[in-house]
Amino acid sequence: MSQLPPPSPQQREHEEPHENNGALPWYVAALVIALLLFGIVYLWRTTISTPPEWGDGRTVAELQGPSGDAAGGIDGGGIFSARCAACHQATGAGLPGVFPPLAGSEWVQGDSQTLAAAVLHGIQGQLTVKGQVYSGVMPSFAAQLSDAEMAAVLTHIRKSWGNHAAPIGVDVVARVRKATATRTEAYQGEAELHQLKLTP
Ligand code: HEC
Repeated sequence: MSQLPPPSPQQREHEEPHENNGALPWYVAALVIALLLFGIVYLWRTTISTPPEWGDGRTVAELQGPSGDAAGGIDGGGIFSARCAACHQATGAGLPGVFPPLAGSEWVQGDSQTLAAAVLHGIQGQLTVKGQVYSGVMPSFAAQLSDAEMAAVLTHIRKSWGNHAAPIGVDVVARVRKATATRTEAYQGEAELHQLKLTP
C-alpha cells in the first residue's frame, strides 16, 4: 500500500468560525427586559436617605453624638478626649503632682466665668486643687476652641466623673472671651484667679 501524500495546509485547516445571524433567543431578550424593569422600579422606589429604623436602629440624634451639653449638638466629651485627656486623663483624675484632677475639682465646679477664663487663657504657677498644690503650665485654648466648643467641653467636665455643676452656656464663654480679649498670657496661678472680677 503506497502512502498518501500529506494533505495540503488548506485541507488540514478548519473552516474560519463565523457568527450565525440567527435572532437573539427570546429568553435572553426577556431576561434583559426583566432586569431593566427591575432596575427602574428599584431606583424609583429607593429612598435616598433611608429612615434610621431600616438600618441599625440608631436614631439621628444618637449618630450626632450626645447633645445633652449646653452647646447644641457639639460633643463636649469628644473635645475633652482630643484636647484635655492627654494631661487630665480620660478619668478626669489627672496625674498626682503633675496634672491636677478635674473630677471633684473646686475650680471646675466653681464660678463659671473664672473657669472659662482659665481654660481660655491658661494657668501658670501655684494652684491648689483638692488640697494639693500644683505648679505646672496649663495651655491656653482661646485660639483652638470656638465659644460653642468651649461651652461644650466645660459643660462636659462639670457633669462628668461625679461632678455636679450647672452647664456653661455659649453666652458666658463669649462674654468672658470679650472681657479678657486683651490678655496674652496665662493667669498667674490661684493668686490671680481668685481675684478675677469678670461679672459685669
Ligand atoms: C499640656 C497639659 C494640659 C492640657 C492639654 C490641659 N490641661 Fe488643664 N491643666 C494643666 C495643668 C498643668 C494645670 C495646673 C496649672 C498650674 O499648676 O498652675 C491645669 C489646670 C486646669 C484646671 C484648673 C485646675 C483643676 O484641676 O480644676 C482646669 C479647670 C483645667 N486645667 C481644664 C482643662 C481643660 C478643659 C482642658 C482641655 C480643653 C485642659 N485643661 C487641657 C495641664 C493641661
